[in-house]
Amino acid sequence: MSEAHRHFFNETASAWLKRQECPELYNYMLEFGVRAGDRVLDAGAGTGRLTRYLAPLVGETGQVVALDSAVTMLRVGPYGQWGKTVSAVCADLLGLPVQSGFFDKAVCLAVIPHCRSRLPVLKELYRALKPGGKILILHTCNSDHLNTLHGNLPAPICDDYLPPVTVLASELKSSGFMILRAEENPQLFWLEARRPDR
Ligand SMILES: C[S@@+](CC[C@H](N)C(=O)[O-])C[C@H]1O[C@@H](n2cnc3c(N)ncnc32)[C@H](O)[C@@H]1O
Repeated sequence: MSEAHRHFFNETASAWLKRQECPELYNYMLEFGVRAGDRVLDAGAGTGRLTRYLAPLVGETGQVVALDSAVTMLRVGPYGQWGKTVSAVCADLLGLPVQSGFFDKAVCLAVIPHCRSRLPVLKELYRALKPGGKILILHTCNSDHLNTLHGNLPAPICDDYLPPVTVLASELKSSGFMILRAEENPQLFWLEARRPDR
């Protein structure tokens, strides 16, 4: 992540914490197949908006790694409340601090547009997933709406871009993934893919 992005997200962490209620995320995680015992990456976890729904689903036998490169996001988020199930890790998606094949699932909620080196990030996510593991790129609106929203924000966010779901699906494919579901509508951007078994 660029310094300008890190600065922006560190500065907006407290405001972000006030926008945590998003109950549909729980159902989305059920639909994605998150279950007890899973090791799940919450990629660009921010202040834990998604982690709060992942933690009860993976339970005590599972693990959520809530990873973000803006340390203030992790500091203000309520990460202590989930005990050993959740590890808050300050790192960049370009270099995940785990061995290859560590995660059963990875969820990228509202983070991919902020990654200017998108292909290397997708390849790193592929590496970190087990063969047969799944990735979900998720937004609660479509790409057009999000790009308009970002365009009205200050730099560097105004230039952050989410490609149409078909374009991002091609990039996932070229990173080695098998596409399972790719759709977008005004309420949802859902791109789900699997790392092939071998
Ligand atoms: C728009 S916020 C979304 C946070 C959270 N996923 C949510 O939906 O509430 C984007 C988050 O991604 C993080 N982020 C952006 N690029 C990143 C990168 N390359 N590596 C790790 N975190 C990143 C930012 O620091 C920020 O906390």
